[in-house]
Amino acid sequence: MIMDPTTRQTAVQVTGLTKGFGRGDARTLALKEAEFNAYEGDLQLIIGPSGCGKTTLLSMIAGTLVPDQGELTVLGHKLHAMSTAAITRFRRENIGFIFQQFNLIPTLTLVENISVPLLLAGTRVRQAEKTADAMLDRVGLGGRGKNYPRQLSGGQQQRVAIARALVHDPRLLICDEPTSALDRETGHQIMTKLRELARKPGRSVIVVTHDPRVYEFADRIAEMEDGRVLRQLEGAAMANATL
Ligand SMILES: Nc1ncnc2c1ncn2[C@@H]1O[C@H](COP(=O)(O)OP(=O)(O)OP(=O)(O)O)[C@@H](O)[C@H]1O
Ligand SMILES: [Mg+2]
Repeated sequence: MIMDPTTRQTAVQVTGLTKGFGRGDARTLALKEAEFNAYEGDLQLIIGPSGCGKTTLLSMIAGTLVPDQGELTVLGHKLHAMSTAAITRFRRENIGFIFQQFNLIPTLTLVENISVPLLLAGTRVRQAEKTADAMLDRVGLGGRGKNYPRQLSGGQQQRVAIARALVHDPRLLICDEPTSALDRETGHQIMTKLRELARKPGRSVIVVTHDPRVYEFADRIAEMEDGRVLRQLEGAAMANATL
């Protein structure tokens, strides 16, 4: 949904974000004063070559990694000014993730995996598992709730990870390569769901991807290279750009 930039609500605002890993000769600057915005109602893509800093940027927006420098406002909260406990609470209430590695817990069944965000938010086990079971159905894996992640294919595990990210109806959904393990048809279905979700009032979705098949679902695209956001495109500029 491209709206007048003066009226749309900013979901994420990143300014001058810098992050290094390691020390001395081994030091890598993963982000170099990156600038980035995402808006409510939008499905926002982040693209760029391997190692350019996409996952690092997502981790900071999610509050799981602390920047060295720069400012970060997520859903109106200045994360750098909050305590670790407050960030954790904020994340549990407002953010859903789909990780690049699906991060399903191997010793929990699928229904138990999907229940985790609800349990963290205080939902009772029976209710959480009922909701989780319905979610599993929505991603096309109805009846598999008692299976363990290792009994599923990569694409099926990806769908469970998506169900877990959506189960507590987060305002901001952050996805790192959500379609990488999926065939064309399933990838299409998942992206259609993510776009639907982004359109709900007050919601937004950020997707990191290498997959050009996903570009058609985007409202905006941020292109990264070597720790920086080179350009952020939308509307006609996005349609005409060579990506
Ligand atoms: N925990 C870490 N320790 C050391 N270096 C790291 C760490 N995390 C990321 N890096 C480095 O920071 C840079 C950016 O990594 P990042 O994972 O953000 O890239 P990416 O764009 O997500 O790549 P890909 O598309 O391969 O997932 C890389 O050079 C990487 O090696
Ligand atoms: Mg990555």
